[in-house]
Amino acid sequence: MRYLIIGAGAIGTYLGVNLAHAGQEVTFLARPATAAHLRAHGLSLTTAEGEVRRIAAPQVAASPAEALENSRYDAALLALKTYHTPAFLESIAPWRAQFPPVVCLQNGVEAEAVLAAFLGEGQVLAGTVTTAVARRAAGQATVERPRGVGLTANHPLAEPLAAALQAAGVATRLYPNGAAMKWSKLLTNLLGNATSAILDMPPAEIFAHPDLAHLETAQLREALAVMAALGLPVVDLPGVSVRRLAWAIRWLPQLLLQPLLQKAVGSGRGGKMPSFHIDLHGGRGQTEVDALNGAVVRYGKRLGIPTPVNRTLTETLQALTQGELALEAFRHKPEALLRRVAAQP
Ligand SMILES: NC(=O)c1ccc[n+]([C@@H]2O[C@H](COP(=O)([O-])OP(=O)(O)OC[C@H]3O[C@@H](n4cnc5c(N)ncnc54)[C@H](OP(=O)(O)O)[C@@H]3O)[C@@H](O)[C@H]2O)c1
Repeated sequence: MRYLIIGAGAIGTYLGVNLAHAGQEVTFLARPATAAHLRAHGLSLTTAEGEVRRIAAPQVAASPAEALENSRYDAALLALKTYHTPAFLESIAPWRAQFPPVVCLQNGVEAEAVLAAFLGEGQVLAGTVTTAVARRAAGQATVERPRGVGLTANHPLAEPLAAALQAAGVATRLYPNGAAMKWSKLLTNLLGNATSAILDMPPAEIFAHPDLAHLETAQLREALAVMAALGLPVVDLPGVSVRRLAWAIRWLPQLLLQPLLQKAVGSGRGGKMPSFHIDLHGGRGQTEVDALNGAVVRYGKRLGIPTPVNRTLTETLQALTQGELALEAFRHKPEALLRRVAAQP
């Protein structure tokens, strides 16, 4: 099959290099500066075992026009951060009618509907990546925790794509309920993410603090209440027992929950800081908080479910990224964040 990989960051490099390594035809669509870098230096993926897989002379397109004018693909794998999606969709507007089916690998629960409205129902396949990958530089990525990929089963591409990913060494599972898969991933994304960025603290320290651990539990309970109201079951994902996490959040007293979460979060991430922390403190000026905690707030509002913790985390982190609040206002100051949550109506 022929693949168009949209975005040569951590996930695009992880999947594109593995597919190419397994003999698939892969083209990377990157923005001009990154495209030039890939053409000059190739791509490389360091596996969890330390093997370095290189593509010395990759197929690279520096614009949708270059990618699509004379080429056809069986599938496009969307590996952009959610905040880059609007500009990307605008850039492909002239090629809408001939765009290949898109596998949406982004975190969050709303992108598939946006893509389907733009490209047409049937042109979008929900996906989720549970492997943790760190981007070292343009076209250079390292697998931190190999887990796998989930794909929604109800699309003709699902089975051939799952077979190709499996053959490329990426454990892949099909899910009958794509929304349950994406929301289950969202639960894991919330853990220790916004708090870590806002307070500039590693997740292990967040979960060692009883009141912050309580805040973490509260944000997940809000998300679970939204899932229940939507009638979505929590499902396990490749390498991640999300059902066990949800059970513990729902039923365990805080005294037992805190050490469990501390252990799970400590061992689950490897040495990688959560993505919101990397995006805020790495100076990207944007995070995916609106697509994650923000989605819980939007759905909660629609369903009449209060989501004060997710709302505070979203608003605070957005104010920090936009420079409306100083980083120093919350750096290593749990009490400042806890006061802000307590002040919510
Ligand atoms: N990394 C992980 O471990 C992981 C795991 C599971 C899910 N995810 C999710 O997967 C998605 C991608 O994350 P990531 O970690 O791979 O992000 P990333 O490393 O930041 O990569 C995103 C890439 O998209 C590129 N890009 C932005 N706009 C573009 C455009 N218009 N055309 C082409 N390329 C464009 C960026 O290019 P430039 O080089 O020009 O900046 C960057 O290389 C996110 O939703 C994330 O939450 C990530």
